[in-house]
Amino acid sequence: MGKKLTKKVTWVGKVDWTLNTFHGEELSTHKGTSYNSYLIKDQKNVLIDTVWRPYDKEFVRNLKKEIDLDKIDFIVVNHGETDHSGALPELMREIPGTPIYCTANGIKSLKGHYHADWNFVQVKTGQELKIGESNLIFVEAPMLHWPDTMFTYMTGENILFSNDAFGQHYATELLYNDCVDEAELFYEAMKYYANILTPFSSQVIKKIKEVQSFNLPLDMICTSHGVIWRDRPEQIIERYLSWADRYSENQITVIFDTMWDSTRRMAELIAEGIRNIDKNVTIKLFHCAKDDKNDIVTEVFKSKAILVGSPAVNNGFLYSIGGMLEMLRGMKFKGKKAAAFGSYGWSGEAVKQIGEHLSASGFELINDGLRLTWVPDEKAAEECVLFGENFAKTL
Ligand code: FEO
Repeated sequence: MGKKLTKKVTWVGKVDWTLNTFHGEELSTHKGTSYNSYLIKDQKNVLIDTVWRPYDKEFVRNLKKEIDLDKIDFIVVNHGETDHSGALPELMREIPGTPIYCTANGIKSLKGHYHADWNFVQVKTGQELKIGESNLIFVEAPMLHWPDTMFTYMTGENILFSNDAFGQHYATELLYNDCVDEAELFYEAMKYYANILTPFSSQVIKKIKEVQSFNLPLDMICTSHGVIWRDRPEQIIERYLSWADRYSENQITVIFDTMWDSTRRMAELIAEGIRNIDKNVTIKLFHCAKDDKNDIVTEVFKSKAILVGSPAVNNGFLYSIGGMLEMLRGMKFKGKKAAAFGSYGWSGEAVKQIGEHLSASGFELINDGLRLTWVPDEKAAEECVLFGENFAKTL
């Protein structure tokens, strides 16, 4: 059912409590998510975005309780990805001629997804649509996080409909940022940024500065996932500016996989060495094959330096480390230091290869890594601790 936000604006989305992965299996969503859609009733009636396809019938059924569908004058599609556009086919079957406002790339992505020749209206940054007392102002936001993305600002109500930006995969019936657990909310907002928006950080800063230069009053940011920012909406904008600017905390993250525990033991001894030098730094260890990959990426996002370890296997490294290195490459992290480590029996290529991957992915490799044969004995254990101490000293 719809939830009224203001006299003119009603939330008509879907809270998805049970979703635990998104983008197929690419992104974990431990806290579920929501697909936020908004209905504006002014002299003209406007629907902003829809919901994911599995909920299309439920969405249209509920929307009919809020408005006679024939009375929807315009549909705004801020982004064509199917979690927001998925109910369009079901809706357009009922109101096929309704104009759909979106960017040029939005038209391409909607046509690419649905192969339908709907009544598209292409919009550009600064273009306004008068809907009565309020106007909608469109702002193209390419690569936040797709080429088709745009924001829509509603005058009078002072609402920014930001789509994915400022969102979180966080299911709640409470709707607003000031109604939910703050630590949970900011963890999910950071995880969302770290895993989805990090590669586009320079565009994030540019776009926020551009929108700020319009000097538009802001009462709410209505995202397409998670809560609506109504209590100090500028706080999530400030976080984004900080996250987009080579973000790090005083943290070192150690990621490893292990076959017979030697590389695990190395990870722990290296951590001990780091602690000998720096009593304040947060050190976190993750078993890459067992821990959640997106939580690990979030911890890397928070880290000033990382260590990645794998035993050698078949002249390379373990599968889970391969997946993680590929994820880290895609994130295009900046300003982070790194080193590799691992145990081996005979060939021992893993450490060098991991180092090369990290270096090619933008990490500053601060040494040649640490390779040890077989199971660490007392002397090897001391080497690991010393490696950790030297690593900490270079930060
Ligand atoms: Fe929430 Fe890019 O879709």
